Amino acid sequence: MLAVLIAYVIGAVPAAAWVARSRGVDIRQVGSGNSGATNVLRSLGKGPALAVAIFDILKGVLAVVIARALHLDEPVAALCGVAAVVGHNFSPFLGFRGGKGVATSFGVIAVLDPLAGLGVAAVAIFCMWLTRFVSAGSIVGAVAAVVLSLSLARPLWLSLVVAVLAGLLIWQHRDNVRRLQAGTERRLGDKPAEKK
Ligand code: G3P
Repeated sequence: MLAVLIAYVIGAVPAAAWVARSRGVDIRQVGSGNSGATNVLRSLGKGPALAVAIFDILKGVLAVVIARALHLDEPVAALCGVAAVVGHNFSPFLGFRGGKGVATSFGVIAVLDPLAGLGVAAVAIFCMWLTRFVSAGSIVGAVAAVVLSLSLARPLWLSLVVAVLAGLLIWQHRDNVRRLQAGTERRLGDKPAEKK
């Protein structure tokens, strides 16, 4: 229980919001309004975005690694990973709002199942490169994670955890899906604009 709580607090550290604030920007008031690396890329550029992406990935990795270091069973370590993503998405530091959990979910999956993590990264990056929509790449990557987990015949608990992470990620992208349908979603490289 304590490990799950620690994982939640680690996940809750809002790197994007705090990095943006340190540069005088309120991340919730620019671009997509999301507290994540993609929106930091839009509003602050590549360096801060890379730093936020790495930090957010490490939150997911760390949550699982700490649980393992405490000799908890692997399913419990996976639960700690889910807690880190929940902390990222619903952070008490941001009034229980937050990001969409892409980087943190990736960190959790990569440490739980490195082969699936590699596959997910390849599929997501290819989709982002093809469409220039980070949101579409993230959603396709989430679906790929579930497909890969099932195809690789992973234990049921692991596939369930991956499915929960994928479901949460897709739910957090509901506004992006609406914008994709309406043709108003921003592509990578589009000029920054006011929040929509
Ligand atoms: O980082 C989440 C990404 O998939 C979408 O971010 O800012 O375009 O909503 P954003």
